[in-house]
Amino acid sequence: MLAPPPLQDPAFKVDRLTVTFPGADAGARSPIMDFSLEIARGEITCLLGPSGCGKTTLLRALGGFARAENTGGVLFQGQWLRAPTSDIVMIFQENNLYPWLTVRRNVAFGLPYCEGTREEKRGRVEAMLRHVGLEAAADQYPRELSGGMRQRTAIARALMVDPKVLLLDEPFSALDVALRRRMQELMRAIWASTRTTFVMVTHNVEEAIMVGHRVIVLGGRPMSVLLDERTDAIPKDRYAPETLALQRRIEDLIESRRV
Ligand SMILES: Nc1ncnc2c1ncn2[C@@H]1O[C@H](COP(=O)(O)OP(=O)(O)O)[C@@H](O)[C@H]1O
Ligand SMILES: [Mg+2]
Repeated sequence: MLAPPPLQDPAFKVDRLTVTFPGADAGARSPIMDFSLEIARGEITCLLGPSGCGKTTLLRALGGFARAENTGGVLFQGQWLRAPTSDIVMIFQENNLYPWLTVRRNVAFGLPYCEGTREEKRGRVEAMLRHVGLEAAADQYPRELSGGMRQRTAIARALMVDPKVLLLDEPFSALDVALRRRMQELMRAIWASTRTTFVMVTHNVEEAIMVGHRVIVLGGRPMSVLLDERTDAIPKDRYAPETLALQRRIEDLIESRRV
């Protein structure tokens, strides 16, 4: 694939990244070797690709968690990212919450580290609970919630600390279709009001097209970019001909390139 032109304002510049795993034998080939990619600030980038190709590994590297070789790495806002930072928050498929805290307390968890008076903070928590539709569940515990409510709580908690970047690793894959679609709409609504940089891994092609401004298909070993497509010009309508055509193109590509 031809290299795309450099982005005006990248949040991340993955520059010749090679990830190594502690304990992995030297002969084992890493899924990510000499990999480069730019991710724009203030938009939703969706990552697709066959299972095992290295999506989670890449996301962890964007979160500052990966052990990178000295030859390259991840630049975040122009600085080498060497460790996790509070500017970048990661949400996993499941188990993002503290089980011993109520929804409200989970959402408020990061606030002691933020600025503002107690009153202001309390107001922000209530506003966020309303924003994600959890006001009625605020006093419940994670075990009493549905999967969708748990993920909404996780997203709300992440957003409370005003991160610059939200990384999401297959956040809705445990949800049924209807709930998943509601969560996709919520993501778009949150993005519209915060303009936070989102990087979301999903294995659902339709989801990537519906949520993302840009869809990237990864694959191969070592991993490379198989397709990189802007989707803002496509109507956010899952049955529009353009959406279905792109979905088909991506599914065929993933099918033909299983690792
Ligand atoms: N902790 C680890 N130790 C050794 N190898 C790992 C480790 N984590 C991931 N890998 C390797 O990286 C590959 C990609 O894993 P992952 O990033 O989880 O893929 P994906 O999220 O795309 O399904 C795996 O197939 C495995 O070979
Ligand atoms: Mg994964």
